[in-house]
Amino acid sequence: MEFSPAELKKAAQALSERYRTGQAPYLRAPVDRYAYLITRYPATKAALHRVFQEIRSFPVQTMLDIGAGPGTSWEAGSAIWENLKATLMERDRDFVEIGSKMTPAGRVQWMTGDVSKQGAFEQHDLVLFSYSWGEILDLALLEKAWQATGKFLVVVEPGTPRGYQSMLKARDFCISKKASVYAPCPHSKACPWQNTPEWCHFGVRLQRSDEHRLAKEGALGFEDEKYSYVILSKEPLETDFSRLLKDPLRRKGHTIITLCSKNGIEQKTVTKKDKEFYKNINKLKWGDKIANKV
Ligand SMILES: C[S@@+](CC[C@H](N)C(=O)[O-])C[C@H]1O[C@@H](n2cnc3c(N)ncnc32)[C@H](O)[C@@H]1O
Repeated sequence: MEFSPAELKKAAQALSERYRTGQAPYLRAPVDRYAYLITRYPATKAALHRVFQEIRSFPVQTMLDIGAGPGTSWEAGSAIWENLKATLMERDRDFVEIGSKMTPAGRVQWMTGDVSKQGAFEQHDLVLFSYSWGEILDLALLEKAWQATGKFLVVVEPGTPRGYQSMLKARDFCISKKASVYAPCPHSKACPWQNTPEWCHFGVRLQRSDEHRLAKEGALGFEDEKYSYVILSKEPLETDFSRLLKDPLRRKGHTIITLCSKNGIEQKTVTKKDKEFYKNINKLKWGDKIANKV
């Protein structure tokens, strides 16, 4: 390792602070990028992998990633869409240099520079802001991104109240431009948790590498990455499901679930009397979809 454990820990702490508050400075020095690769890269990749699962059955051949960092989306996306080609836009030159070494030149094109200074974007099936929208928050740029979207525009943000609010800004703006929400919401109406103490977010568990554990001083071999996201579709697509917004609360003889449905937020108590549903619900977890037929 090029950096001492103490340097790495300090840089990782600054990144965590940035994740929580959106404000701490980051990427000032090579150690910050290294800490990103050790801690944030695997966490972001895990969240993206989970988000992309929602649209894995659609043929996505081209992806435009705006604020691509070291190209985290490439690994997650190309694992799902085997013929994927990507354009990755990033202003941090060192990230571009690192990312260029981690991605195949024939299928990935890097564009270095400030995205707000670019002209119109070329059309891509999938346009992505992965943990970058909250830093950009520029509606004119979002409009350009939406115009460049062939099928889906995906926004992933930290699963904090602030990340949720940023995601909502993108969601609301694109809906005003005739976008349909495909996930996680089963509707394109205003978010029912808007202006409440709740915020819509999900979690994914990932294994920590030894270096990750060292950087985070974590005794645990895993960490839970929390994220908020929205997948906006150019075409209206059929969505006939409800979404589990929290892990089911399993009690003796019954389970309490919180759902987002076409009717808004619903809390239900499922008892053993609801045989099949009760059996199924106990296999489901936070973030899963429930077909409305059950
Ligand atoms: C938190 S990182 C996320 C990186 C990557 N998308 C990921 O998920 O791992 C946000 C990235 O957006 C980039 N970024 C922010 N504003 C930008 C802009 N105006 N133009 C280009 N890149 C930008 C930053 O340099 C940074 O690498």
